[in-house]
Amino acid sequence: MLGRLLRKKPITHHSHHSDLHRTLTAFDLTLMGIGAIIGAGVFVLTGVAAATKAGPAVMLSFVLAGIASMFAALAYAELAASVGGTGSAYSYAFAGFGELVAWIIGWNLILEYAMSVATVAIGWSGYVSNFFESIGLPMPHAITANPFQGGDINLPAFLIIFAIGALLCVGIRQSAKFNNIIVAIKLSTIVFFIVIASMNINPANWHPFMPFGPMGVVQGAALVFFAYIGFDALSTAVEEAIEPQHSIPIGIIFSLIGCTIIYIIVSGLLTGIAPYQDLNVGSPVAKALLDIGYRSSAGIIAVGAIAGLTTVMLIMFYGLTRIILAMARDHLIPNSLATIHPTTKTPIRTIFVCGIIIALVAGFSPIDKAAELVNIGTLAAFVFVCLGIVVLRITHPDLERPFRLPFNPLIPLLGTGSCIYLMLNLSEVTWMRFVIWSIVGIALYFGYGYRHSIYRQKQH
Ligand code: ALA
Repeated sequence: MLGRLLRKKPITHHSHHSDLHRTLTAFDLTLMGIGAIIGAGVFVLTGVAAATKAGPAVMLSFVLAGIASMFAALAYAELAASVGGTGSAYSYAFAGFGELVAWIIGWNLILEYAMSVATVAIGWSGYVSNFFESIGLPMPHAITANPFQGGDINLPAFLIIFAIGALLCVGIRQSAKFNNIIVAIKLSTIVFFIVIASMNINPANWHPFMPFGPMGVVQGAALVFFAYIGFDALSTAVEEAIEPQHSIPIGIIFSLIGCTIIYIIVSGLLTGIAPYQDLNVGSPVAKALLDIGYRSSAGIIAVGAIAGLTTVMLIMFYGLTRIILAMARDHLIPNSLATIHPTTKTPIRTIFVCGIIIALVAGFSPIDKAAELVNIGTLAAFVFVCLGIVVLRITHPDLERPFRLPFNPLIPLLGTGSCIYLMLNLSEVTWMRFVIWSIVGIALYFGYGYRHSIYRQKQH
């Protein structure tokens, strides 16, 4: 609401759309955060990062990426509670920097969320085919590999998107219930891993601790940053949360703290039970257990990972549709995407359009290593969210702030600096894709959004 006032816009321009339902509690939101955060980052990327970038010091990579995320999370918590808006960073950028910057951030968020869902779907498919293989029913290559890998379609990745989309259509309350159950399964498997692994540590595996030097640790952090993405998706739930001014900051901060602790423990243990060189595989956590002779435990971990990746897709897909909703309400993208179905109270049309695109990407395209692209888009959004705190404290000192981050402007500036530093440690290819996507976005803005924008029309 305040966000809309801040932008001096009438709040009635979308009154023909039915409102979303307010049903989520702080507890639901914390679990949603954990549901969105713990996924491919820890179950897949820890292995790659340990084997190729940081060695056993990957746990320090998790510390570094966790610190940058915590600065950003505090900024998100303040802005979600004060500015609000279902568009998350898009709405905050609008309040702090105006429409063009908001559009660029929103456009990058669309890429981030859509690509993360597709990437995680491919990881999910990998774990599912491992599972079928382990019970003696291997799936044919033709339907588990995309055309670039010599198959016809990655069918599990393609289908899971439709299943998730269907769940989102049914309603957020049902989705949150489903999420809570799955998060419980995911956390139990992680505790199970911690117990088994801590009884099987071989300290020799921790030497050398930093085989690729300190810069390796930083590059590892830029990669495993992916593991922390997701808490930001919570801030898209403001219109569906009960007492969002309190429940959203609680959800964001608690889920992030919990996940940071889990990541440091899991990555430390993983590199303690297996030589880091052995971890460069699609399912490193299961593999490490297999290597030390725990066959059925590895199976249990695989099931947990499948569950874990499912909720990541669910929440990120959810966030995607809510950001699109916010941008469509502002007419920066066609307003028809802002329609909410009167019975289910969910944006079915948007879910459908996004679902088709993501399913095609997940089923047919060669983007199995898109994590870095997701990271750069997210880090860019985090930079603007942190800067937004500093700007809004100056331009709108009287804005009601139910949650205020401490030590302003130190914390947001540290957040800005650390996110930029991680961005600089991503590869050139990633930067190129990021720049191309942003240029396409700017062109679209001047071709469409600039002319249709509600905000601009009201001004003239
Ligand atoms: N943080 C999410 C994951 O690791 C995106 O899968």
